[in-house]
Amino acid sequence: MNPNDPNRVIIFDTTLRDGEQSPGASMNLAEKLEIARTLELLGVDVIEAGFPVASVDDFNAVQAIAKASTRARICGLARSLKGDIDRAAEAVKPAGDRARVHVFLATSAIHRTFKLNKAKDEIVKQAREAVAYAKTLIDDIEFSPEDASRTEPEFLAEVVQAVIDAGAKTVNIPDTVGYGYPSDYADLITYLRTHVKGIDRAVISVHCHNDLGLAVANSLAAVRAGARQVECTINGIGERAGNCALEEVVMAMRVRKDQFPGITTGIDGQRLYGASRLVQSITGLPLQRNKAVVGDNAFAHESGIHQHGVLKNPECYEIMTPASVGVPMTNLVLGKHSGKAAVEKRLQAMGVSVTDADMPKLMEAFKALADRKKEVYDGDLIALVEEAVRGKTLAVWSLDWIHSSAAAGAGAGAAALATATVRLSKAGEAVIDAATGDGPVDAVVKVINRICGIEGTIEDYRLRAVTKGGDAQGEVSLRAKLTANGQEVSVGGKGLSTDIVHASAIAYLDAVNRMGFQVGRLDYRTAANG
Ligand code: KIV
Ligand code: ZN
Repeated sequence: MNPNDPNRVIIFDTTLRDGEQSPGASMNLAEKLEIARTLELLGVDVIEAGFPVASVDDFNAVQAIAKASTRARICGLARSLKGDIDRAAEAVKPAGDRARVHVFLATSAIHRTFKLNKAKDEIVKQAREAVAYAKTLIDDIEFSPEDASRTEPEFLAEVVQAVIDAGAKTVNIPDTVGYGYPSDYADLITYLRTHVKGIDRAVISVHCHNDLGLAVANSLAAVRAGARQVECTINGIGERAGNCALEEVVMAMRVRKDQFPGITTGIDGQRLYGASRLVQSITGLPLQRNKAVVGDNAFAHESGIHQHGVLKNPECYEIMTPASVGVPMTNLVLGKHSGKAAVEKRLQAMGVSVTDADMPKLMEAFKALADRKKEVYDGDLIALVEEAVRGKTLAVWSLDWIHSSAAAGAGAGAAALATATVRLSKAGEAVIDAATGDGPVDAVVKVINRICGIEGTIEDYRLRAVTKGGDAQGEVSLRAKLTANGQEVSVGGKGLSTDIVHASAIAYLDAVNRMGFQVGRLDYRTAANG
């Protein structure tokens, strides 16, 4: 595949930047590195690794990803301010000639008036100067006129012209609030292609939010109109209703070749499912079962008529094969006698890659599970990989053990009989405490709060059986509202166990250990730009 091919669509992944803006989706350094490694294996062209000026942790993560990367361009976001650009340029520098800085400034009337309090000419000047300055530090500069889809087209063209003249190699046209409509958005791209002098010196990029569920449709319409970079996230995670979903936009262009003649991307489709699972696990944001391409039901054929048709010829009801997106369809069973070679072979067949460093931890978890569970399915194995990777350097508090009991039934006082005794450790010190609650999970939350000295409640709780059968592992994904030192944050957590109270305790503690990432961070949307 030739990356200079004019029909090659550049896939710009912003899971680690816009995706991390999803409430509760904060990630630690090891997790961001793992996602970046997976994105490179998946074949994305550009990884937007973060917003370096937002916090020291963000800066360090972007820098570490730039150092560890081997083939993708690594991009850091910056407002059109010298201080932001300096930080972003410094963070991406270790990527060498693959370093990119992404500068943005809002251009729509509503943002000019209410957020920036700036006139049009001031916006053009600030954008031009920001790009020119960034260009003195890094060669590959992208510019985004934030809220472009609600900006007057003539003014948008003026800004785009100015930043291309100042040296921007990519001009991104964000549909920041997900207001765009496919035909209008495509018209806007065509308008820019015909009204901006020298537009061919830059790649036109699109960045669509999903507030009306149109992010993928808008991105596809823009590609048909000539855009050649799509900004997207794994599972479509992102601010509010999220961003354009990478797996959907890529598969739509691939399956509907008739609509996208000659168009290619560098994505290895067979790694889509593994990447989706990893991001679900790390962010604690579960997918709805019917999510296109990678959801649990995407290839499940429940109705008898469908099953009959699919068995005769899968194309009756399947427009792409599960294998083409890496969904594990075999139920080849591993058990306690299976060794490292068998596990590695299964992982390879599923397109899941585990580093040598993570392999011993994975095998330990596999053996422990195989002792408890007769048959270890593909889904179990993927869940174990996620568990081995997740929270690698996170554990401030670790869960040693838990004992819980609950009375069931409608009798008076039965619920209040739920109790939990928990032992947690921190820096080698163990603390045991017990509490009663409205149910075993409530009792667990109360003990953990007391031991960790915080206030907290569960806002959202989901339990999913990883595979079939009474001994299936339960995966708990929750969002907790936590308060410490007067600051309230919403944090995601995830836990896996064959016992659901145990999985809940792991998930809640995961959220507690994660709360530090949310505190004191600069939000690029609310921070003034100039
Ligand atoms: O949605 C948006 O406008 C953004 C910009 C920073 C590109 O995320
Ligand atoms: Zn965005």
